[in-house]
Amino acid sequence: MALPDSFLQELLAKNDIESVVSGYVGMKRRGRNLVGLCPFHGEKTASFNLYPETSSFYCFGCGAGGDVITFIKRIENLDYMDAVRFLAERAGMRMPENRQENDQTSRLRLRILEANREAARLYHAALYRPEGQVALDYYHRRGYTDATIKHFGLGFAPAGWDYLLKGLRAKGFKDEELIAAFLAARGRNGGVYDVFRNRAMIPIIDIRGNVVGFGGRVLDDSKPKYINTESTLAFSKSRNLFALNFAKNAGRELNLCEGYMDVIAMHQAGFTNTVAALGTSFPEEQMQLIARYADKINLIFDADGAGQKATKRAIDNLRRTGLDVKVVTIPDGKDPDEFIKNNGAAAFKLLLERSANAVEYRLLEIGKTHSILTPDGKLAYFKEAAKVLAGLDSPVERDVYAGRLSEMLSISKDAILQEIDSTRRRQQRASRKQQLPNLVRQENKELRQVNPEAIARPRAAGAEESLLGTLILHPDYIKQVRATLSPEQMTTSFNRQLYTRLLDRERQGLLVELAFLAADYDEDGMAYISRMVRDARERAVSAEDVAGYAAIIREEHALRHMDNPAEASDEDIQSMLDALRARKTKK
Ligand code: CTP
Ligand code: MN
Repeated sequence: MALPDSFLQELLAKNDIESVVSGYVGMKRRGRNLVGLCPFHGEKTASFNLYPETSSFYCFGCGAGGDVITFIKRIENLDYMDAVRFLAERAGMRMPENRQENDQTSRLRLRILEANREAARLYHAALYRPEGQVALDYYHRRGYTDATIKHFGLGFAPAGWDYLLKGLRAKGFKDEELIAAFLAARGRNGGVYDVFRNRAMIPIIDIRGNVVGFGGRVLDDSKPKYINTESTLAFSKSRNLFALNFAKNAGRELNLCEGYMDVIAMHQAGFTNTVAALGTSFPEEQMQLIARYADKINLIFDADGAGQKATKRAIDNLRRTGLDVKVVTIPDGKDPDEFIKNNGAAAFKLLLERSANAVEYRLLEIGKTHSILTPDGKLAYFKEAAKVLAGLDSPVERDVYAGRLSEMLSISKDAILQEIDSTRRRQQRASRKQQLPNLVRQENKELRQVNPEAIARPRAAGAEESLLGTLILHPDYIKQVRATLSPEQMTTSFNRQLYTRLLDRERQGLLVELAFLAADYDEDGMAYISRMVRDARERAVSAEDVAGYAAIIREEHALRHMDNPAEASDEDIQSMLDALRARKTKK
């Protein structure tokens, strides 16, 4: 399973962390390191650090950390092998042969992607067969040009039960692979049949150009209107956006619509910076994905009840991304697709330009429930509005809106700013109170999961982690430490294992670097180790410190065996005596 070291070394040399990360995150140099906004959690002040010296990253906000492979795993949602493959492709390197095959899951994942690509071809080809004429007419009736149909690779799944099955079996796909791809299903009687039948087919393509899934729409008013690919090894709804493959290159402003059809119409009308959420929940993960490609987002949802609910949900989940949000309301309960068809692209552009930002939108919403014409209503509006404005981090923005409120409500601007200020302080107190236990819980959870034994023996574990972090940061200390400390003397199995790995690599003359651990640890494990390295870096450890850590570890190990002197080795007894002597001289 392990890849040859020579291959990994070349891979790392050709994918230096600085250039890889800069492809995703805007980084600014600060001394020897670089900082930027963390792509793994929403933040407005940069706490994501890149350390070119150790080819590693660490986020002080959310604790994410690791090497360049771990970074790709997280940001592209790939497993270890696929992350390595991704970096190999990026550097124009070939993967070592036969290794790939070991990894059954990633092979199945590849098969699913191949099946999807072939399926998209077959669905598209069906449009131009006699039975596909209905679907072609359907697209044309909706105003989609042939160029658009081709651009999006739109297609048709014929009625019947086995158009796709036949086509894909002929290309060597196994039924099990097609079922894993959500293209086929097995019925109660054991027979296998096409999932998508008699539907207009819309391929969903990820940012790397893979066909990851499909939306299939009925051609009439029957139900369900859509069948969509559910999660497969190659597809997760919350980690994809429809048409992001096109829109990601269209600048730093994105439009987010509700439906596939809206996106297609928008692109055809020239708004190629448009994507659709897959579903109506707008999970934060999806919003983070948008934040990677945009600074500004326009929410373009139907004006009906469902659309309004969606808008609220999206705004809520966008709050932590720091994106500049605008809400575009389409008049007469139309969706963008219909609006453009009826009024043209120019009219839509006007709508975009005139639409309110998220604050204005929320103020308008408050206005709907509290009439400012009565004194009570005015007071209630004022309180609610202050809450919204208190959430703004920019003092300039707060000032601008306070000015507007002042005019609107004929209340002095000072009084408004005062109310905003005190609401803000209240909100901050509340959120700090909320966050603190969260942070502690988060760290504890991580500890429990990754290095559970550390909790019970903090002194020993602390010294071990300081030592291990230092050794990764300065592998030249490993020789010195090896002579005085054996892995068995470490208290937690996680630390023992990590230490053993470092010793092994050093003994074999291999590079000791975070990236070489990525094959053996999951993301939490890598984050945990990165935290050790971060701490060591911050403490600027010396050779004496290293000797000191080793001494504490030996001492603690000896103390653990005091209860049971029979088990204590001569070495243990010696370090125990040393430790006691050291304690005496200190006092
Ligand atoms: N959707 C779905 N399943 C449904 C209805 C809707 O998955 N039964 C999703 C689809 O992604 C759809 C989006 O919600 O694109 C928006 O729904 P809707 O506005 O009803 O669909 P449109 O794509 O606008 O379709 P049309 O214009 O043809 O009515
Ligand atoms: Mn629609």
